[in-house]
Amino acid sequence: MEELQKFLIFRKDSETQEIKYERFDVPKRKGMTILEALFYIQDNLDSSLAFRYSCRGAICGSCGMTVDKVPDLACRTQVSAVKSQKKPVKLPEFSFGKVPDWDQENEILIEPLPNMEVIQDLVVDMELFWAFYRKVEPFFTREWNDEAPESHQSSDAARSIEHLVNCIACGLCWSCPVNANNKNYFGPTALAKADRFIADNRLSEEHRKEIQTKVWSENAVPACEQYFVCNRVCPKGVRPGTAIKDIRDKWSKTE
Ligand code: FES
Repeated sequence: MEELQKFLIFRKDSETQEIKYERFDVPKRKGMTILEALFYIQDNLDSSLAFRYSCRGAICGSCGMTVDKVPDLACRTQVSAVKSQKKPVKLPEFSFGKVPDWDQENEILIEPLPNMEVIQDLVVDMELFWAFYRKVEPFFTREWNDEAPESHQSSDAARSIEHLVNCIACGLCWSCPVNANNKNYFGPTALAKADRFIADNRLSEEHRKEIQTKVWSENAVPACEQYFVCNRVCPKGVRPGTAIKDIRDKWSKTE
């Protein structure tokens, strides 16, 4: 007989706004990811289950959700590892609604990303996240006379910002307690991206100063309370909290 994995999944109806948790049993398969289990549910048990994904390879950053109370990427989390893998320490208690009798040992609990408005089921509204990202303008532009991104960077210079370049803007770090309490906080992603560009030798001086000024505003770098939850949940080793500290420590001295 095939072995089943139990799931307890957060549901929200976008029309009625009703919130509930639903149980599903998914046949276990070697190497199955959480995302694949959600596909199974959508294909075989409830086609209305809503969730985001694109690349299925931990690159696009679309499939962020909360798995057993830990923000994670559904496509890089194996079903078989959820109960046994080491969980990040000192995470806030994320609450989305009353969870009905969660059997923590046997049921995998799936909820949306924390601190974002839920649109439907596991799909959240990331508009605020992207608004702060756009505000920082962490990209090269001709307008600023930035140098062509493909030129004039030594291997050492590239290596020094490589971990920041790896950010896929998945929004897991928006689970920061500061984002929970301050709707105007830029969030760790936008600030880590700022550090990546401030430290990039191809950026024009004018553009660098502009980014520095933005991230020194009240709700940006100074609002970070150094919980480092972002460092612990980041799936790509970006260490956004350390990047924010880097801006605070290093770049403030250059002003
Ligand atoms: S589907 Fe792209 S990161 Fe998971």
